[in-house]
Amino acid sequence: MVKPLRKAVLPVAGLGTRFLPATKAMPKEMLPVVDKPLIQYAVDEARAAGIEQFCMVTGRGKTALIDHFDIAFELEATLAERNKREALDLLRSEAMAPGSISTVRQQVPLGLGHAIWCARTFIGDDPFAILLPDDLVLSDTPCMAQLAQVHHETGGNVVAISEVPREQTNRYGILKTGETSGGRVEVKGLVEKPAPQDAPSNLSIIGRYILLPEVVHHLSQMERGAGDEVQLTDAMSKLIGHAPFHGLKFTGTRFDCGDKVGFLEAQIAFALARPDLGPSVREFLKKYVNS
Ligand code: G1P
Repeated sequence: MVKPLRKAVLPVAGLGTRFLPATKAMPKEMLPVVDKPLIQYAVDEARAAGIEQFCMVTGRGKTALIDHFDIAFELEATLAERNKREALDLLRSEAMAPGSISTVRQQVPLGLGHAIWCARTFIGDDPFAILLPDDLVLSDTPCMAQLAQVHHETGGNVVAISEVPREQTNRYGILKTGETSGGRVEVKGLVEKPAPQDAPSNLSIIGRYILLPEVVHHLSQMERGAGDEVQLTDAMSKLIGHAPFHGLKFTGTRFDCGDKVGFLEAQIAFALARPDLGPSVREFLKKYVNS
């Protein structure tokens, strides 16, 4: 029997230097797309896939992320007093169950693999999801729910994948592919940030994973890979052959919100998709693109 997926790890220790000065006193994961911070998109997406327990891997200066998921008692009292029902209902609908979010600190920036290893006690013996909040996906069915379906059927490891231009393979984890059926691609190998001429394909991992707990054992070897960091991709590649491993060409559009242009594109796409904002945003955009 496949163990149900209930846990997610959210690596949020990064410094966000690409968004300075906005991120000088605020975690980059608190940057909003329209009116919701990136971290909350990740949590909402995970909850839509049935995930109930979260572990944020944080660092210094990340307190706002923890506060964001707490009850803001004074704010709620003021909203109630002023009869701001809508705002109050919104806050309450997003409240997390007490005890469902824990945090660990990464302390030293040794890479994504090291960040996940820091959550090893939380992971225990259970399959777990990873969501990188910089990667935002706009889709009808939440991306993590699409991955969870594959995990449920195979009991194995699953990563979300998308095609990238050849010249960009050195920015991502890249798949060596086996059999393909529908959107599912069998993973035969994984390479972190290969040069275009060395890349085994142009299928990249995006920041959505469901992994079996065995990956923690491989991470604990602390082998350094690309960029002299402990790479999650390297530890994942050691899982191949021991359990099913698939890449899923998910349905939806991925935005790289760690990049300024990607972040701006996400603002526009998410605003256009909103019934309350879409029509007026479409109208003002015409003004800018036609001039
Ligand atoms: C990380 C992973 C990489 C993956 C990417 C997705 O890279 O190491 O395999 O393709 O996230 O966004 P990073 O963006 O941290 O350099």
